[in-house]
Amino acid sequence: MDLPVDRFAEAHILIWDKTSPISFHRSETKMNNNKEYTLYNEKVMDHFMNPRNMGDLPSADGVGEVGAAACGDIMKISLKIEDGRIKDARFKTFGCGSAIASSSMATELIKGRTVEEAMSFSNQEVVDALGGLPPVKIHCSVLAEEALKAALEDYVKKHPEAASAPAKGEPAKA
Ligand code: FES
Repeated sequence: MDLPVDRFAEAHILIWDKTSPISFHRSETKMNNNKEYTLYNEKVMDHFMNPRNMGDLPSADGVGEVGAAACGDIMKISLKIEDGRIKDARFKTFGCGSAIASSSMATELIKGRTVEEAMSFSNQEVVDALGGLPPVKIHCSVLAEEALKAALEDYVKKHPEAASAPAKGEPAKA
């Protein structure tokens, strides 16, 4: 998918600069008996309000961009890979609070894994690590899995030898 990077830049301005995180947070809340309550637990809110690993990696080894057909949200994950192991990960997300929290958590979880280990990464890991997501927001964690796998595919496409080589420190396959 060929997505203009500008759109991500705009998303960041919209979400993180022009409107405060608090006002964006409010769009993720509901009113009940005149009391505001959030759709999300504390951990999800923490990763939403204080996202880890946000941005780009200047010399990324693999980049994946995906969009969710259902809601139009977009996620991009960039990876730095050395000796078959993920050294660093960054994300840019144009989407809901759950998508931001999911991409933040996914980039945290994936650092230090081998490419092979990362290939079997599942959105359920993100959901579990976040302490759960509302059922209607599970697809946001799927977007994180898809973005990560797209970045890994991009890496393997550029480094076909990496698909079969063991990561440094890993035993060679029989
Ligand atoms: Fe689309 Fe969350 S609602 S990714």
